[in-house]
Amino acid sequence: DSGLRDYAKRRVVKVGTAVDVNVLTNEQQYRKVLAREFNSVTPENEMKWEAIEPTRGQLNFTASDQLVNFARRHGQVVRGHTLVWHNQLPQWLTGGNFTNEELEQILHKHIIDVMKHFKGRVQAWDVVNEPFNEDGTLRDSIWLRAMGPDYIAKSLQWAHEADPHAKLYINDYNIEGTGPKSDAMYKLVKDLKERGVPIDGVGFQSHLGIQYGFPENMQQNLQRFTDLGLKVSLTEVDVRMPLPVTDEKLAEQKDYFGRLMDTCLRVKGCESFTVWGFTDAHSWVPGWFTGQGAATPFDESYRPKPAYFALRDEL
Ligand code: XIL
Repeated sequence: DSGLRDYAKRRVVKVGTAVDVNVLTNEQQYRKVLAREFNSVTPENEMKWEAIEPTRGQLNFTASDQLVNFARRHGQVVRGHTLVWHNQLPQWLTGGNFTNEELEQILHKHIIDVMKHFKGRVQAWDVVNEPFNEDGTLRDSIWLRAMGPDYIAKSLQWAHEADPHAKLYINDYNIEGTGPKSDAMYKLVKDLKERGVPIDGVGFQSHLGIQYGFPENMQQNLQRFTDLGLKVSLTEVDVRMPLPVTDEKLAEQKDYFGRLMDTCLRVKGCESFTVWGFTDAHSWVPGWFTGQGAATPFDESYRPKPAYFALRDEL
């Protein structure tokens, strides 16, 4: 049985998906499609701080190791997600009364501990996730408050020391097209490169919806980043729609998926295309966006949707 990963054989680009390790454990069909279709995996939640260190000082890698081992058995690379973020932090951290100096030490230790654990087994890390507001200013977060804007450079530096071979990414959403947020990311990574800070790539999450339109000038936008000598990846692709599903909406979604893959393939330096869940049976969209869903390439019964064939045809 051939899957997207077979169609992508002659391509540089890896075809990946986010994986929910609970579902991986419980559903045979999920494992089967995952192994058949993809050659890259990203843990949807299992490498986030609250998952790895729910109690201070007690690191729990059970679920994340399970995925990394599945990936090794099936010839898949792993994208690590994510080390420095404002969301899904453990309660002991957000509710603790730490000084700025303590927070910096805690973040340093976190990056070193987690990256050393996975050293050599995670190909690329989303070191910093979602640093920007929509207007391009830096997002107010525990890390910005404690360390100032240099929390980003410091995190990358520490990450590089922990695992010098891992590719280090900054990842964000709504930067696929041109606009203030994308411009801010461009300025940031250009400055980091000029300062010699270790940065390898920019992740474009690509959470789209058919009712919002396709991002403006996406190919040119990605290219200005690769022109800096950086890699780019589409890291969390999904294309949601207002429910109920209709054939027209599925056709529009197919067009979006095809254009996203086409864009990645046209940009030299686009190294991976990852969907944020591959089946509508297990997608974060319905739980997060009221009245929307059906955002992935397979339906709830693991039947390929038009979007799937768009991806296959592009590859
Ligand atoms: C989402 C997961 O899919 C959900 O299961 C979880 O409840 C919340 O986080 N941007 C990111 C991802 O970088 O980590 C988010 O994942 C989706 C948005």
